[in-house]
Amino acid sequence: MRILVVGSGGREDALVWKLSQSPEVERIYCAPGNGGISERAEVVDAGAEDLEALADAAESKEIDLTVVGPESALAKGIVDLFEKRGLRIFGPSKAAARLESSKAFAKNLMKKYHIPTGQFAVFDDPQAARAYVRQLGAPIVVKADGLCGGKGTIVASTLSEALGAIDLLMEDRIFKQAGERIVVEERLAGEEVSVLVMTDGVTALPLLPAQDHKRLHDGDKGPNTGGMGAYAPAPVVDAATATQITEQIILPTIRALASEGLPFKGVLYAGLMLTSDGPKVLEYNVRFGDPEIQAILPLLKSDLVPILDDVVEGRLATTPCEWESGSCVCVVLASHGYPGDFAIGKEIRGLEPFADRRDLLVFHAGTKKDRERFVSWGGRVLNVIGLGVDFEQALKRAYDAIQTISFDGMCYRKDIGFRALKKPVSR
Ligand SMILES: Nc1ncnc2c1ncn2[C@@H]1O[C@H](COP(=O)(O)OP(=O)(O)O)[C@@H](O)[C@H]1O
Ligand SMILES: [Mg+2]
Repeated sequence: MRILVVGSGGREDALVWKLSQSPEVERIYCAPGNGGISERAEVVDAGAEDLEALADAAESKEIDLTVVGPESALAKGIVDLFEKRGLRIFGPSKAAARLESSKAFAKNLMKKYHIPTGQFAVFDDPQAARAYVRQLGAPIVVKADGLCGGKGTIVASTLSEALGAIDLLMEDRIFKQAGERIVVEERLAGEEVSVLVMTDGVTALPLLPAQDHKRLHDGDKGPNTGGMGAYAPAPVVDAATATQITEQIILPTIRALASEGLPFKGVLYAGLMLTSDGPKVLEYNVRFGDPEIQAILPLLKSDLVPILDDVVEGRLATTPCEWESGSCVCVVLASHGYPGDFAIGKEIRGLEPFADRRDLLVFHAGTKKDRERFVSWGGRVLNVIGLGVDFEQALKRAYDAIQTISFDGMCYRKDIGFRALKKPVSR
């Protein structure tokens, strides 16, 4: 079987790593890939949003299955285009991907089908939005409706912050049409967790629950990033909570989409807040979470290929799925300045000792191969994955390995997984 993975981050390196272990896979391609991926897969020179070029490549290389990483490609309709051209692809249609690409669509769907989420209202008019925010008061959450690369949500602790957010989105239009419509939402309190399930539109096959760290600095402080680390399985999700999430949130969402004539195939990712009033949805994503999937896939014992195949073929009900016991953590190594401006082209040293370890992996994100060496080529550069019998061991392996890796301006959080340890890691 020939597989094409679309994307260029740590998520895609993890997918390529896992898929290439399958006895069913004869060749694996990645478009556009990155430095590390170029060693595991054949890279294809087509951007993740260059849909026609991707479909051409899938045709000419006789790809049997394409797996999509980034939401932008899904929101642009990569699945619709591939299916129209008779190419097999894993992911939701453009219309079903609205679950992520329009927060107003997602909130209205939840309301209509009684799926637990915070109170909210949708606005196209800044005047009306301001009046509503004044009426409810802070704390309150203001969200751009459209895709903003994870920067469109403002959790406001004061009224003036919330009013400022409305100005930025609707008057200054910092995210262009993505912020023309906004959702104003009740602020929920609790622990956040990411629940990803595979679904063929009817059945849900849950992956291990994960938690990520979005903030740049230790103690979950500082600006939001694409994610500075993740770990799985999240201990906060016990068996009873997992059942509650499946029955009250995941399955009702899948059924709701089907009732709306938008059957969902692919990975459904529910970003949840575990409130004192039960789990509630913060948002949905329609693809593998990055970095979460980097901490989930190393624990998947089963072959991933039959699972993806069964999603595409709509026969997930009988698909076996086994997990390793133990814990997995992902620590992101970023460039100084990220998520703002940062320098690239810095030589990366010290990766060699980890090439053949089972309990330690390095997934590449913003890297490039420059002759025989790797250089940094993005904000998030590398992901160091530690596996262990428990989080303590997994974290020790990851952090010990990090001591030997270096590039100019390398930054990382020292406290990944602190909630899982129930106490901050002191290093
Ligand atoms: N209603 C809410 N209450 C509290 N925190 C929220 C709420 N909605 C979002 N957040 C916080 O903001 C982050 C980003 O919001 P999210 O809805 O996931 O949008 P996006 O990922 O598109 O930026 C969440 O991970 C969560 O930490
Ligand atoms: Mg989110």
